[in-house]
Amino acid sequence: MIEFNQHLYGQDVRMVPGDVVRIMTTSPQEISRVTRSKEEARRSYDRMSTWYDFLAGSERRHTHEGLQKLNVRDGETVLEVGFGTGESIVSLAHSVGSSGAVYGIDISSGMFYAAIERVRRAGLQDSVGLILGDGAHLPFKTHIFDAVFMSFTLELFDTPEIQVVLTECRRVLVEGGRIGVVAMSKRGRQGIMVDLYEWAHRTFPQYVDCRPIYVRNALEEGQFHIVDDTAMSMWGLPVEIVVAQT
Ligand SMILES: C[S@@+](CC[C@H](N)C(=O)[O-])C[C@H]1O[C@@H](n2cnc3c(N)ncnc32)[C@H](O)[C@@H]1O
Repeated sequence: MIEFNQHLYGQDVRMVPGDVVRIMTTSPQEISRVTRSKEEARRSYDRMSTWYDFLAGSERRHTHEGLQKLNVRDGETVLEVGFGTGESIVSLAHSVGSSGAVYGIDISSGMFYAAIERVRRAGLQDSVGLILGDGAHLPFKTHIFDAVFMSFTLELFDTPEIQVVLTECRRVLVEGGRIGVVAMSKRGRQGIMVDLYEWAHRTFPQYVDCRPIYVRNALEEGQFHIVDDTAMSMWGLPVEIVVAQT
């Protein structure tokens, strides 16, 4: 019997002539663990909140692409997990219009107040609700959101918690609801920049809290159906933008 292996989305796919295709799910390279506590994360983002917009300039293009792909429409109810200074919240609020609503949850009070101020300046306070809290425990009823958005946030959760967050997202989404995730990715060709980044993450976990993850695989593991998967890069670091449905 002739078999051949190929690498597909970080998985070894062993194909056997005839009708058998087995997918071995054990091959993806391990992703680094997140060792800093939630309290440390909260304090760090509080400190960063005043200059975060300047810091995160290079991420904007990817976040914008993620918002485009999620394609939020007039009248929808949307949640953003980890809204930062609220740039996407404002964009989402414009997309849903006055008949829709946007909610956000973030763990950092510095980010929370920065976002409130941004929403207020945009005159969108009537259609936006922001909550200070942990994205792993969403304080919302089941099946109420048409879409959930996360940008450079899922990779901040420790490995076992990624599925906890995605399960919460599934729970609050309506049947057929969409999720859009933009995150640093471990998929595809990993260059020296990824090695350097992961080294920094391991060596200075209190400063470099995020690390590349397998976004598509995580969503599939969370029982989402992939609708769109785009690969981009940022300073040589792969970024995945994945839209999926419940
Ligand atoms: C890298 S920033 C990204 C912010 C925003 N999404 C953007 O793209 O500009 C990550 C955000 O996630 C928030 N965050 C970190 N851990 C969180 C948690 N456990 N629950 C909710 N938000 C969290 C941080 O406070 C921060 O605002």
